[in-house]
Amino acid sequence: MNTGLAAGAALLALLAITFSLLSPQTLFSPPEIPGSKDHLHAARLLHVTGAVGPESLVFDADGGGPYTGVADGRILKWEGEERGWTEFAVTSSNRSDCVRPFAPELEHICGRPLGLRFDKKSGDLYIADAYLGLKVVGSTGGLATEVVTEVEGQPLQFTNDMDISEDADVIYFTDSTTIFQRRQFMLVLLGGDKTGRLMKYHKSTKEVTILLRDLAFPNGVALSKDGSFVLVAETATCRILQLWLGGPKAGQVDTFAVLPGFPDNIRRNSEGHFWVALHAKRSPFAKWVSSNPWVGKALLKIGFNFKQLHTSFAGWKPHAAAVKLSDKGEILEVLEDCDGKTLKFISEVEEKDGKLWIASVLMPFIGIYGL
Ligand SMILES: *[C@@H]1O[C@H](CO)[C@@H](O)[C@H](O)[C@H]1NC(C)=O
Repeated sequence: MNTGLAAGAALLALLAITFSLLSPQTLFSPPEIPGSKDHLHAARLLHVTGAVGPESLVFDADGGGPYTGVADGRILKWEGEERGWTEFAVTSSNRSDCVRPFAPELEHICGRPLGLRFDKKSGDLYIADAYLGLKVVGSTGGLATEVVTEVEGQPLQFTNDMDISEDADVIYFTDSTTIFQRRQFMLVLLGGDKTGRLMKYHKSTKEVTILLRDLAFPNGVALSKDGSFVLVAETATCRILQLWLGGPKAGQVDTFAVLPGFPDNIRRNSEGHFWVALHAKRSPFAKWVSSNPWVGKALLKIGFNFKQLHTSFAGWKPHAAAVKLSDKGEILEVLEDCDGKTLKFISEVEEKDGKLWIASVLMPFIGIYGL
């Protein structure tokens, strides 16, 4: 208790000194991004009836869907205006208490599907469930079965996203931390956690290999069009890392891009460019916290609640920002809803037929934006 209070007092004093020249509004405001277009407020909303937090979305090989995983653990399929959303799959068999739209305390029982990807060859849907590991369900849906639940004898802690190489028969996936659960993601961000991993699952041998360790909140995963590299979003450092898979640089890790905010999922478009959804832009305060892990630890000790911590980190003004990167990592375009008029806290951007389908881990809807 004393340590907490002392840390709190020290932190407040430091805050006062460090930021005496900045108004609180500037301190917690999302920064402006040069050249970005404040256009995303024009998105149309597709409400996910009776559910919240469509974190990832995916279309099947016939263009059906999208399918999306929501906070109560279900994977829903959009069947058009007439039929609306239907229940496609679940990751947990014990769902008697799982009807509340948002109940983080039940996530480990109900499941919390995050990244979704179809295996184009088999038509199976692979699911990164934050609590239940990597799962798979056939093209007719139902109860998903286990693919990977542990590595090196330890259960996966926070499975987050994946991409599938059909040619190599391999799935690349992230476990964001070995310590915290998904509902504690602010602890991962603030506590300076660096236990996240990028792994590879070989479908025929069922072998799991750890490719990268000591990552700071690894999140979205996307393969390049030619399969020569895989990208992983390192949320806590606002970077996209590039792991070379073949050629002379095989095994090498480069910083592919440094982003103006915290990246969530990455999805490649048909041209081989990458859309990255930012959960939030990095405010001066969040920048300061993320480069000084002791500050985050002190904030946690003071005992702020989740909402207060999230607001201090994600900024006082909810907003949406999506970044398009070339296959060399250059920023090609930034689209925003700066005032959060329509979209906020977006988690994935999927480009299909001239439209962006935009998911959100917190909101009860998907945005559809015409390019
Ligand atoms: C099912 O979930 C309930 C909580 O909702 C829990 O008490 C129970 O132990 C679970 N049963 C199994 C078989 O996991």
